[in-house]
Amino acid sequence: MDLIEEIKKRSVYVDKGIEEYLPIAKPYELYKAARYLPDAGGKRLRPATVILAAEAVGSDIATVLPAAVAVELVHNFTLVHDDIMDRDDVRRGMPAVHIKWGEAGAILAGDTLYSKAFEILTHAPGEPERILKCIDILSKTCRDICEGQWMDVEFEGRTDVTEEEYIEMIEKKTGVLYAASLKIGAILGGASNEVADAFYECGRLIGIAFQIYDDVIDMTTPEEVLGKVRGSDLMEGKKTLIAIHALNKGVELKIFGKGEATVEEINEAVRLLEEAGSIDYVRDLALSYVANGKELLNVVEDSEAKSILLAVADYMITRSY
Ligand code: IPE
Ligand code: IPE
Ligand code: MG
Ligand code: MG
Ligand code: MG
Repeated sequence: MDLIEEIKKRSVYVDKGIEEYLPIAKPYELYKAARYLPDAGGKRLRPATVILAAEAVGSDIATVLPAAVAVELVHNFTLVHDDIMDRDDVRRGMPAVHIKWGEAGAILAGDTLYSKAFEILTHAPGEPERILKCIDILSKTCRDICEGQWMDVEFEGRTDVTEEEYIEMIEKKTGVLYAASLKIGAILGGASNEVADAFYECGRLIGIAFQIYDDVIDMTTPEEVLGKVRGSDLMEGKKTLIAIHALNKGVELKIFGKGEATVEEINEAVRLLEEAGSIDYVRDLALSYVANGKELLNVVEDSEAKSILLAVADYMITRSY
């Protein structure tokens, strides 16, 4: 099976859904700013998991397309605001929304994506009771993301962040949106509560792995491939688990939290982190989260969609960007 091809097949519908459910309206510049990032693509992993979850419980893409679009718009909303918080100027290989439209424009573009996501989900076809459950899940998820992002920013000013605190932070800022994606797909696909809950837990675990690995590729993938500035987490002083592990080992990183660095300085820092075993340590941890997440899919019978979901789980920590 070609995983990228399988995701692509589904994201074609997601792209059309974005055009249909988020049309450019007045004031045009606001909607252009809101559509800028969704139109730039991205891997579309979250909407793919919504659709695959529905398929894995015996339903189809038509039932969940609005929900898949809603989840992708929530994701894009968080990216627009995240780049302001992280002082990152490049996203998906292009200038970030706040670089093109200013911070006020980017805050409003993000808010527009956020509100449209709920509007789209509310008007989705399906049993009202199931839709309501999904609105509840998505709103709680957004609140969790805010808590996680708050912790992420707060941790920049601390030197005593523990591994447990880091895991809680990434579970909230990233894990829960994958959890919600799988659960919403299952609920709208007609699954039982037992299956929906197992899917949530699967998404949470593989989502945690996704973020651990995001912190690895932030350092190791070249900007042309990553579509973001390499070494941003180090320059920003982010308490990634890599940094926590290295700090505990007494590794000194000159550029940590300094706001800027040359490519040579970033390479040197990454070399020290590799030497300290910090990168291998987190890779192994991510692998165990993926393995535990995959186990939970045993709650449904084997199917093509289930094998694709299992491949998505592996992709969380094998992707190059
Ligand atoms: C980036 O997510 C934000 C994180 C949670 C790390 P993705 O890597 O899925 O971003 P796109 O959608 O493919 O651009
Ligand atoms: C982002 O984490 C999580 C959310 C956007 C909620 P990061 O700050 O690591 O994401 P990137 O690396 O900028 O994509
Ligand atoms: Mg960021
Ligand atoms: Mg961030
Ligand atoms: Mg990152």
